[in-house]
Amino acid sequence: MKIVVLDGFALNPGDLSWDALNALGDVTIYDRTPKEDVLKRAEDADIIFTNKTLLKAPQLEALPKLKYIGVLATGYNIVDTEFAKAKGIVVTNVPTYGTKSVAQFVFAHLLEICHHVAEHAESVRQEKWNRNEDFSYWSQPLIELDGKVMGIIGTGRIGVETAKIACAFGMKVIAYAPRPNFDLEGEIFKYESLENLFKTSDVISLHCPLTDETRGMLNQEAFDQMKEGVIIINTSRGPLIDEEALLVALKSGKVYAAGLDVLAKEPPKEYNPLYAQTNCNITPHIAWAPRAARQRLLMSAVENLKSFLDGNPINQVNS
Ligand code: NAI
Repeated sequence: MKIVVLDGFALNPGDLSWDALNALGDVTIYDRTPKEDVLKRAEDADIIFTNKTLLKAPQLEALPKLKYIGVLATGYNIVDTEFAKAKGIVVTNVPTYGTKSVAQFVFAHLLEICHHVAEHAESVRQEKWNRNEDFSYWSQPLIELDGKVMGIIGTGRIGVETAKIACAFGMKVIAYAPRPNFDLEGEIFKYESLENLFKTSDVISLHCPLTDETRGMLNQEAFDQMKEGVIIINTSRGPLIDEEALLVALKSGKVYAAGLDVLAKEPPKEYNPLYAQTNCNITPHIAWAPRAARQRLLMSAVENLKSFLDGNPINQVNS
């Protein structure tokens, strides 16, 4: 059984073990695979694992031995699943592995905006405290979250987990989803219309998938409806936000600050004018990446393959 991992580095840069996968066949792992090398590297493969390397119709057509594609992520738009189905190739994903990590990271961004921990710690390293007349100083406004309104867009796994943490901070949590799941409503959050959520939230956090409907949902028109000084957190997908409109809103103060783990283009390739905004913190898509979450992802991918080999595929996305 020949197994090829096309781009294993992002999942396992060296701090996890591939042993569980190695036990299932003859495994070759590439850190990354350029588009032009996919066919050469995968020509003998029965099984392919991919994280972000595209496997569309032309590649699938040219890989007659291929029986199974394991996507090392939740999103699987990198694979032409319908074409794979027509060729009898099973495609699986890992639907959940990082819910807690991503929800935690929302608050890493939010608390940085509220307290500027890194900036204050750096000022102490520079001995500004030693020179200070008083026992305390701060270089930025400090914000308490208790009593503030948290608006959650998307009430799936991560949105609900984020709502729970916000609630523990004493925030009043409201949420929007096009098809509300009223069973979830209760002490943690209450559903609102998107319009009301825009109007009343002090913090807005995005937790919906990227679709035709959600692309650019935070645009000029949306920012116009929001409270002066709203905080925006996006750990979901970059294109949910119109970055030009966000830049204008950050400059005017309409948006007090933004914490973004995702951008419209990743990696960005070019300079992004948002980098110049000191009220905009951008991280390189790392919410999913604590070791514990990656370990879970890797083991789920192995379990997916075992189940397929046993004749009962799980987490198949093209059945
Ligand atoms: P999920 O599938 O459990 O929930 C998504 C929710 O989005 C649905 O429950 C629905 O309520 C909502 N939704 C769908 N269409 C909507 C619309 N038009 N407007 C508002 N809400 C809508 O997904 P999960 O696991 O909660 O993940 C949420 C997103 O987080 C993913 O789509 C992904 O983009 C992102 N993500 C980011 C990671 C990172 O490392 N930054 C890691 C993992 C996920």
